[in-house]
Amino acid sequence: MPPVPSPTRAFRTTGPDWWRDAVFYQVYIRSFADGNGDGVGDLAGIRARLPHLVDLGVDALWITPFYPSPMADHGYDVADPRDVEPVFGDLAEFDALLAEAHAAGLRVTVDLVPNHTSHAHEWFTAALAAAPGSPERARYLFRDGRGPDGSEPPNNWPSVFGGPAWSRVPASGSQPAQWYLHLFAPEQPDLDFTNPEVLADLEETMRFWLDRGVDGFRIDVAHGMAKPEGLPDMQPMEDTGLLDDHGPGDKRFDQDGVHEVHRHIRRVIDAYADRMAVGEVWVSDDDRLAQYLAPDELQLAFNFKLLTAEWDATALRTAIEHSLATVEGTPAPACWVLSNHDRPRHVTRYGDGDEGTRRARAAALLQLGLPGVAYLYNGDELGMPDVDLPDEALQDPIWERSGHTERGRDACRIPVPWSGTEPSYGFSSQRDTWLPMPEGWGGLTAQAQAADAGSMLSLYRRALALRAGSPALRGDGLEWLPAPAGCLAFRRPGGLVCLVNLSPDAVPLPEGEVLLASSDVTGGTVGPDTAVWLRAG
Ligand code: BGC
Repeated sequence: MPPVPSPTRAFRTTGPDWWRDAVFYQVYIRSFADGNGDGVGDLAGIRARLPHLVDLGVDALWITPFYPSPMADHGYDVADPRDVEPVFGDLAEFDALLAEAHAAGLRVTVDLVPNHTSHAHEWFTAALAAAPGSPERARYLFRDGRGPDGSEPPNNWPSVFGGPAWSRVPASGSQPAQWYLHLFAPEQPDLDFTNPEVLADLEETMRFWLDRGVDGFRIDVAHGMAKPEGLPDMQPMEDTGLLDDHGPGDKRFDQDGVHEVHRHIRRVIDAYADRMAVGEVWVSDDDRLAQYLAPDELQLAFNFKLLTAEWDATALRTAIEHSLATVEGTPAPACWVLSNHDRPRHVTRYGDGDEGTRRARAAALLQLGLPGVAYLYNGDELGMPDVDLPDEALQDPIWERSGHTERGRDACRIPVPWSGTEPSYGFSSQRDTWLPMPEGWGGLTAQAQAADAGSMLSLYRRALALRAGSPALRGDGLEWLPAPAGCLAFRRPGGLVCLVNLSPDAVPLPEGEVLLASSDVTGGTVGPDTAVWLRAG
């Protein structure tokens, strides 16, 4: 696909802390835009859609893994972290994307997947071919099984994707058949971070991308990596859930040794100017989460409390208060997320059809009105809902691993609709896409919404323009204001007042100049499921 020239545009913020109030846009690469017509999104597709991101007004991209991978977990099973999967392009295409994004004033961050590799990684192939106790096996967590013949897994840990977190490999010569640990799919063997080779290789990967000019990383399973000495049994749990925090009884995650890994990562980042890392840390205890944000660890950690909160004033206020309390004693700003590629989209979480969309509009103003960093997931700006897919279309490993009891994450990963009235809505030159797109999405496309001042896309564009340009949205912290029952109201130091009405009744519009509202407030009231931004009078 020919490159689309982008205007030369400065970065909105500069300096080592450019990310402090940035809006990041998560590109789930398979689903964002397909440049080569095979029905799967790719780097060329992202290049072609940079103008959309400039018009939207985001500051930076996070691109999900595009490295060589057998795709057992759609790229989170990395066979070579220092190359590009041919389905997505090649290194030259990545370099071109990076240059064009930078020229368009957009920073680019990429995914780092340190906890595990693909089973197709050359290290794992070598480990399988080598004997128990060999240096090849010592890069992973191979152990003998329990029971007289070693036929029981070494401990009771479940995999996040269902089934045991251990798989057995064939016997090697006279040695017993061993087991290897995989917290996720069997195709994702966990690395042993007590082995210095593992950390050295992670550093090499980071330098590879930093030297190319990437602005930072999103670190996958950033609370993984370290495992407890002796791999003891964990507290048995019925539902291990996907990326939930089960507390200290769950010995698979959030072990103290993980912080040494983060200190190492930070030293590498600090050797380059103006780079950053955000961690995917599914730790809900405020103090434990704060430890990842120490001055010598991560600059940012996703805050999943907003993403997991119900559409309810008390639940949302609690989520916000905990998130602010987490960062209070750290150098980090809060980092707000409403949706991502692992969870149902918020339009769908909040309700059916129009109700979900109306609430999602209000939630957008809540998220973007809060102090700190915001991460948008591709399609948030279009109000994309989840899509119920037929069984035969499901691709997430969770579907198979759960014995067809959990449908997995495909519903929130449907390709983005760009234009037109029929699938694939400009996503690809062909109709068939890796996950099927539904009929009836003509009104959801970016093209249709760009022409409609009342659309979700227009709301996001205005909100991001105000966020970037209005002094009212500046300053750290917030002050809670008295609000009618079922409402949230806060004031930012710059003067922004944000009121969100989650009650079933209309409430009076506060005094001040209305900057933006998620639904009509011209009658002097703020209706149910509506948020408004005002500049206090
Ligand atoms: C990613 C998931 C992935 C898992 C294993 C998560 O944190 O966001 O999409 O399946 O890590 O790599």
